[in-house]
Order: sequence, then C-alpha cells, then structure tokens
Amino acid sequence: MSRTPFIAGNWKMNLDHLQAIALVQKVAWALKDARHDASEVEVAVFPPFTDLRSVQTLISADKIPLGLGAQDVSPHESGAYTGDVSARFLAKLDAQYVIVGHSERRAGHGETDEVVSAKSVAAQAAGIVPVICVGETAEDLEEHGAAAIPAAQLRAAIADLPDGAEFVVAYEPVWAIGTGNAATPEQAQEVCRALRDVLREACGDDTADATRVLYGGSVSSQNVAAYMRQADVDGALVGGASIKADEFSRIVQFK
Ligand code: G3H
Repeated sequence: MSRTPFIAGNWKMNLDHLQAIALVQKVAWALKDARHDASEVEVAVFPPFTDLRSVQTLISADKIPLGLGAQDVSPHESGAYTGDVSARFLAKLDAQYVIVGHSERRAGHGETDEVVSAKSVAAQAAGIVPVICVGETAEDLEEHGAAAIPAAQLRAAIADLPDGAEFVVAYEPVWAIGTGNAATPEQAQEVCRALRDVLREACGDDTADATRVLYGGSVSSQNVAAYMRQADVDGALVGGASIKADEFSRIVQFK
C-alpha cells in the first residue's frame, strides 16, 4: 500500500506570531519555486498555540499547501482546566493534526501513557489526527533495546481509539532529539518496522498498512533522504530544522 510521505515541522516554543508569518511566507515561496505537489509529499507545520490563528489565516488566504497542527491538546472537552486548550478549539482553527506524547511533555510535564491515550482520544473525537510520539531514552536503549519502550508506549496510546481511527506515529529516540546524534536510517527502520508490527497486531492489516510512521531526531536536509528510503519510514518529524525556512524547504524536497 502506498502512503503519502509526510514532513511535519514541530516549531516547539519558538517564533512569536509575527515571526511565524514571516517563516510561513518564506516556506510558501520556496514550495512555489520548487513546484511542490502536496499530493506527492504532505507538509504540515506545528506552531505554538499563540501562532495558530495567524498561520491558519495566512495559509487559507494565500492557499499555501501546508497542513496545520498544534503541539499539544487537553484530554478534557471544556471546563475548569486553566491553561488547557481543547481539541474542539483547535478544530475550529482548522488544525488537522496535534502532537501527543512528545518526549518533552512526557519528561517535563509528567505525561503518562494514560494521559497520552486520553489526549489521542480527545483529538480523534474532535476530528483531529493525533501524531503519537514514542521513543526510548539512552538508558532505555541500554536496558531494553530500541523497540521495547516505543512499542509499549504505542500500544497504550492507541488502546482506546475506536476502530478505523486515523493517526500518525512518530518514532523519536530521546537521545537523538536536538543532539545532532541522529539514529542511523537502519536503526530508524528497525524500530518503525516494529511499531508497524504493533499496529498489525492491535489494529489489523489495513490500519498497519495505511498508517504513516515518521522518524524524528536531528533530521536535516543532509540525512532526510536516507530515512525516506527505508520501507517503514514514511516521513519525518522535524524540530530545530523546521524553523529555518531554507533548511525546512530543502528537507521537504528530499528526493
Ligand atoms: O518534534 C521534533 C523532535 O523532537 C525532533 O527535534 O529535529 O530538533 O532533533 P530535532
């Protein structure tokens, strides 16, 4: 089955809304110059909450071939949850995707597998596709090998999703994030393959064959093509390089 490659740019806590507009404009010009075809490679940006409205307005007014996602979502629908942002609010802003379970939230905000599962369910219920992040720390790698922890995190994250729910998986070894120490393409393939096996076992062949599994962790224009050649790697979740217009545009044109 063919899966449309997906390049996702997670801006993390970078760029205010004016800088966001400037970056999206530059990326849009680069995509136009490159005659980018969104049916061949899907590209989405994941700005901070405060930029979503500005970026969404620009994308829609200028018909820029970029998808839009948020970096987090509340597991709750509404109510007394100070600081939370609900999936319904994100859907109103035309967000198609939301990152859940990023290792920076698992580590820095104590997000458990249970919370990640609840966030996936909340996103899906509002019509937003969760981008479920999983990955092992350096200690996990040493103790359990590469695939065991990401596989367990994935099983937990999808456990309560309804049959046929659409989601994206992002394998991000924690030791590779922001370090310049990227996993080799072979390492990425091995774990992405194992994650697809988890999907096959938990959700069946159709979901396993249709679901995009991305690699993330120090992806650059220099290494992206090698990941994209791997059978079970369908794209990249790009952090640092996604806030540099020229570099992100080169990553998107990985062929
Ligand atoms: O969400 C993106 C990842 O955490 C990767 O970040 O490309 O800066 O290593 P990075």
